[in-house]
Amino acid sequence: MAIPDHSFKQYDSLINWPNQENTSINILLNEYIIKQVFSRHIDHELSLYDIGFGIGSLFMMMETNLPNRFKNILLEGCEPSSRNYQHLTTRSFNRENLSVKTSDKPFLLTDIQGLFDFVSAIYVFSHMDTYQMNDVVAKIRSILKKSGQFIMAVGNEDFLNEKLAHQPDKLIKTNTITYDGKTYREIFHYSYIPKIGSIVDCNREENYYLDLFAKHEFKLDTRALINDCGFICTLLVFSK
Ligand SMILES: C[S@@+](CC[C@H](N)C(=O)[O-])C[C@H]1O[C@@H](n2cnc3c(N)ncnc32)[C@H](O)[C@@H]1O
Repeated sequence: MAIPDHSFKQYDSLINWPNQENTSINILLNEYIIKQVFSRHIDHELSLYDIGFGIGSLFMMMETNLPNRFKNILLEGCEPSSRNYQHLTTRSFNRENLSVKTSDKPFLLTDIQGLFDFVSAIYVFSHMDTYQMNDVVAKIRSILKKSGQFIMAVGNEDFLNEKLAHQPDKLIKTNTITYDGKTYREIFHYSYIPKIGSIVDCNREENYYLDLFAKHEFKLDTRALINDCGFICTLLVFSK
């Protein structure tokens, strides 16, 4: 069976995607990242590069929830879906000393200047092709400061397996992928997001990501499971 489009292009046809602002989806996840990762950053300056920022939920929550001790905040990111991109870029940010810089291109095609304290990809890898992932991780490493951290969220493997066992019609296709002499499973499936719609995701075994980041000399700092409005996600934080 041919795999339906799982790329960012889906987001331009998801009529209700801006409804994300009206749902509590991602709130728990963003709160966790702000409290447990960003707030532990001891400097008074904080820079983040958010890959695939969507409608900008993380940026918006950082504007209001980051502790006041941060005096200079740079929020930079890319978002290739034009609908999502416009949703964020037509909005203004009012926090003093917070600047936002955006690109409307996919991550690998974006020219990025400078180094960041944090890079994040929240539910984004499921829209990228496996053949790109090695270059994506090398680029993440190249834009992180020496002590920088990378934060990623993907659908939890056990949660997804259980979901597909109960809803086999959501499974599209399973493939075997190879990285550095090892094989892993990738699953194409439909995800239904309440009030927003259905999207095609590609989930990979967690061990694939652990091995990929280890190969690029990242160290795993944190692994947490977060129940994000009924969707369980795995949050991984790596340091350089
Ligand atoms: C599930 S949404 C998540 C959005 C946002 N990170 C959040 O947590 O609300 C996935 C986003 O990744 C974006 N995306 C997909 N492929 C991308 C790529 N190659 N580079 C950058 N962003 C991409 C999509 O356009 C979409 O907005």
